[in-house]
Amino acid sequence: MFYQLILKQILMKRKRVAKIELNNYFSVIGTGPGGKDYILPVAYKQAQQSDLLIGSRRLLDLFSEFNKKEIELKSNYENILKVINKNFRKEKISVLVSGDPGYHSFLDFLNRNIDSRSIVVIPGISSFQYLFSKAGLSWHDSELISFHGHDLKISEQQIKSGRKLIMLTDKINSPSKISTLLLNYGVKDRKVLIGENLTLENEKIYETTLYNLTEELKEEENYKLCVMVLI
Ligand SMILES: C[S@@+](CC[C@H](N)C(=O)[O-])C[C@H]1O[C@@H](n2cnc3c(N)ncnc32)[C@H](O)[C@@H]1O
Repeated sequence: MFYQLILKQILMKRKRVAKIELNNYFSVIGTGPGGKDYILPVAYKQAQQSDLLIGSRRLLDLFSEFNKKEIELKSNYENILKVINKNFRKEKISVLVSGDPGYHSFLDFLNRNIDSRSIVVIPGISSFQYLFSKAGLSWHDSELISFHGHDLKISEQQIKSGRKLIMLTDKINSPSKISTLLLNYGVKDRKVLIGENLTLENEKIYETTLYNLTEELKEEENYKLCVMVLI
């Protein structure tokens, strides 16, 4: 009851959804970097109250104890849209995304393709937020760049800003490739903070330098979830 009241308040506060009925929405839940301790209680509750969970295998497994219907998110985006559009008025659907939905997640795609007034977003702890907290650093003086699924491009303004650069990596755009790019752009060798598999059992956080990264990781090793910060 209390939870429903909170949700109603959120909906009412968002002017653009003022007329939407409480049951006429689906949620996009930020699940944090991946460790259960870093899932917000409100995210747990929303997942628990859902009929259908949609997300990558890794994220679905976080809520397996709830025994919900599941659809695994791969590249089946069109099918997922159809399922959501057809069913969200009849059943409670939640889409799981890693970190915070507001930072480079499936939310953008959903907002582009479904009436955004039907979407309720539950925030999560971003991978980089967590990394900064572990390092005891603040990130308000940073530029945010995602190379996850994006071209390996960086603007001159970002390079010259002298601010910290927070960079999400992926299988192709590895820390090694990004370091090479930055050095080629004329960035002086600088300290780099690396956070791998954050909040997971095999988490690794360490400091190195741009130059070391190009050397050490020349041979692409197994892909790890990774955030890289030029500090
Ligand atoms: C599609 S983006 C999603 C970002 C997410 N919305 C956030 O707020 O962290 C995926 C990228 O986030 C980073 N990431 C997500 N989870 C991570 C983790 N547990 N450890 C390290 N990096 C992670 C990686 O750079 C990964 O390639």
